[in-house]
Amino acid sequence: MPKENILIVDDETVILNTSSEILRRAGYNVITVSSGEDGYEKLKAGEFDVVITDIKMSGMGGMTLIKKIREDVSTDIPIIVITGHGTIDTAIESMKQGAQGFILKPFTPHEIKSSVEDVIRKRNIIRENVRLKAFLPLFEVNKKLLSELDINRLLKSIVEESSRYTSSDRSSLMLLEDDGSLILKASIGLEVDSGTAIRIKMGEGIAGWVAKNREPLLLNEDSDIPHLKDMMKSQEIRSALCIPIVIKGELHGVLNLAKTTDSQPFTHSDMELVSVLCGQAAIALENSKLYGKEQDLYIGIIATLASTIEARDPYTAGHAIRMAEYSKNIAVKMGISGMEIDIIYRAGLLHDIGKIGIPDRILLKKGSLDEDEVRIMRDHPEIGGKILDKMDGLGEVAAIVRQHHTYFDGRNSLNNMKGKEISLGARIIAVADAFEAMTSVRPYKKAISVSEAVKELKKMSGTQFDPEVVDAFVDMLNLKEMI
Ligand SMILES: [Fe+2]
Ligand SMILES: [Fe+2]
Repeated sequence: MPKENILIVDDETVILNTSSEILRRAGYNVITVSSGEDGYEKLKAGEFDVVITDIKMSGMGGMTLIKKIREDVSTDIPIIVITGHGTIDTAIESMKQGAQGFILKPFTPHEIKSSVEDVIRKRNIIRENVRLKAFLPLFEVNKKLLSELDINRLLKSIVEESSRYTSSDRSSLMLLEDDGSLILKASIGLEVDSGTAIRIKMGEGIAGWVAKNREPLLLNEDSDIPHLKDMMKSQEIRSALCIPIVIKGELHGVLNLAKTTDSQPFTHSDMELVSVLCGQAAIALENSKLYGKEQDLYIGIIATLASTIEARDPYTAGHAIRMAEYSKNIAVKMGISGMEIDIIYRAGLLHDIGKIGIPDRILLKKGSLDEDEVRIMRDHPEIGGKILDKMDGLGEVAAIVRQHHTYFDGRNSLNNMKGKEISLGARIIAVADAFEAMTSVRPYKKAISVSEAVKELKKMSGTQFDPEVVDAFVDMLNLKEMI
């Protein structure tokens, strides 16, 4: 039902009464006044969506009122002229002054209703066009998306920007998995338990429908897809917009936007806007995936290089991959997520890469190292850092590698870092590395048991190791999550 406010200005009571009755029955809010002067005052004081005015009135006539409205009140409020003296000249003159419609007395209920509907529709189209123009900064967003190569940051940017531009209360991005399901990757306004993956099947729910049909979907309260409407109701959604993300004809995911409050529902221009954004997002996603693949290839080459150290020393076989897994699990246990996990995993894999630069006579020595040898051995974090510095996108990994033998209390620190100043990844690797060393057999020592190793870790907690990392690690061992 329409709820627009309409002001009718006419000095004939019968016209005022009949026209206001017709429009009220059609669902509009109607205010009536019997002079141009009163009409002008009302318009200056309140918000109206349409003005209907007589031309010939005692006092201020319709033409003057239109002129004054356009000068002082609004340049775009729709005005309909109503007159019993309808000539082409009057019509042209009123249009020149800024009226949009013209009704002749006597008029039928249908004529007045359709005139009002017509001017409101035209006004909405104009407003939409203005809004679309306002979306020009979207090109800036596109530039931003296209320059983001990190996939997690990119996914976050897509939900943030689409949500901001459409004033959505909830925004989420789901990507298609190999098994054909959609998995939630980024969201705003959703209560999501970070520990559990949110997954839906193709065809299931609103996002599943869009994924299956590969068509954008705009759902408002007057939409006619019954089962999806029920779903909106159950999720307290008043307006929903869901757009497929398609790359080279293949579906890659779905962007969901929702409004839960009584604000302006999504419009077709929102849908167009978000479709443009999703088109750009798709290109950005493809770029980022290609970049990720390249990075993985890169990491693979380095990991192979790292494994050559293990090849030199069979007692450390599998150390890099075990360290990567341990470090990742500790980080997850500590509530870390997303990008940082990948960084810590890679740092675990590459932490000892600098041992490439350590001569065999030291690296493989069966007895304990002398002072000089210890000094050379201590260079391996810095050598590793330097190797990784040369690689694109591994700056954070290099920083962790440089610090992985730094004690929590600051000993062994190259730049006076201590405590939480040492990167979390390095604090995690320090604990996992020590555990690995204690529980592994070496030519010069036996492995100690897990419980003994835990005792040692606890003893060094707060001096060599970050107590929070030790606690997380011990918790994990107790839960038998890793061993
Ligand atoms: Fe090391
Ligand atoms: Fe190590």
